[in-house]
Amino acid sequence: MKIVLISGSTRGDSVNTAVLATVRHILDDLPGEHESVLLPVGELPHYEAELERTDGSAAVRAAKELVTGADALFISTPAYNSEMPGVLKNALDWLSRAQGENPSPLTGKVAAVTSASPGARGGVDAQPGLTGLLARCGVRVVEHEPVAIGSTGTLATEDGRYTDAGVVARLESLTRALIAEFAEAADRVEVLV
Ligand code: FNR
Repeated sequence: MKIVLISGSTRGDSVNTAVLATVRHILDDLPGEHESVLLPVGELPHYEAELERTDGSAAVRAAKELVTGADALFISTPAYNSEMPGVLKNALDWLSRAQGENPSPLTGKVAAVTSASPGARGGVDAQPGLTGLLARCGVRVVEHEPVAIGSTGTLATEDGRYTDAGVVARLESLTRALIAEFAEAADRVEVLV
């Protein structure tokens, strides 16, 4: 299973990127073959229709190819004024576009969504807007109680990932739900074929 990890923050010390590093570590310990790749949203230019028409951005082409070839997405976002940051919205706007006769890279993917912030609410307010956008773009968002990692400044870290047992357990539960959702979707396709 190939999973694209998307952080809604481009900061070097991003707590959301640390959440994804934790997920990567969890994936390594779970049974099965799981490949995970980070999509660098900060490299994408602002969406612009002429740039899209001419297919003129190598970063956009690479992002579309990465997501098209993946099975699932795992997104961790900060809340900026209770919404996802513009850099993440911009990336999803690029990925939401159909490509000629072909559906958009997002169509038919499964996704897990989480959020993180140094505040107590863990950026949870950004999750409804993000899950709503994904659903409208044909993404199956995993049903799970919200996982929002708050008070990040108090959490133990190692090699840029969280080692707090409670945080790891919640992220592992969400990761397992993502894998189960993908397996179920794959079974449904097999039945149809
Ligand atoms: C924030 N921050 C923030 N935090 C929060 O819990 N709820 C919010 O609504 C906001 N709003 C907000 C707006 C703007 C413009 C900024 C710059 C910041 C704080 C934010 O969660 C914090 O900067 C996180 O650390 C960002 O995540 P990364 O970059 O560490 O992943």
